[in-house]
Amino acid sequence: MAEVTERTLIICKPDALQRNLMGEIITRFERKGLKIVGLKMIQLSDVMLEEHYEHHKDKPFFDGLKRYMKQSPVLGMVLEGDECINAVRLITGATKGAEADAGTIRGDMAMATPGNLIHASDSLENAKMEIERFFKEDELFDYKKIDETFLYWRD
Ligand code: CMP
Repeated sequence: MAEVTERTLIICKPDALQRNLMGEIITRFERKGLKIVGLKMIQLSDVMLEEHYEHHKDKPFFDGLKRYMKQSPVLGMVLEGDECINAVRLITGATKGAEADAGTIRGDMAMATPGNLIHASDSLENAKMEIERFFKEDELFDYKKIDETFLYWRD
């Protein structure tokens, strides 16, 4: 069966900016072959965070999580690729950096929680909702990459 092209939302969190790791994180996704279709800095507000982390609002770490996410701007990024939601989650690694597999972004560069460098959408439904939450239609771009012009190995 042919792969399905998907889009997913990444947020490079304040610790990625503070630790000069934005470039390294983008590079990992670029090297994997994912297409960047949206990219911008965002200063998150309480309203945005309360919506984005709605499912965590009763957790004891919720206030700390909001404070951490507002420490500095974040980098919002929309990536596109065949079955990319799962591919991006694999590159991201487990929530707790100390438990994340070596080779993943969190496994290689994060030890703290909540300071785990990035957010990545966890399902098609959430990806759609999160992209709409942070990006306007005209901030997302359709274009062809050079490797997409060499499609002869696909069915
Ligand atoms: P993420 O999985 O992107 O989304 C929820 C975030 O909440 C998670 O990353 C961490 O940054 C944070 N988080 C999850 N669990 C904890 C915890 N036990 N203590 C503090 N922060 C947490």
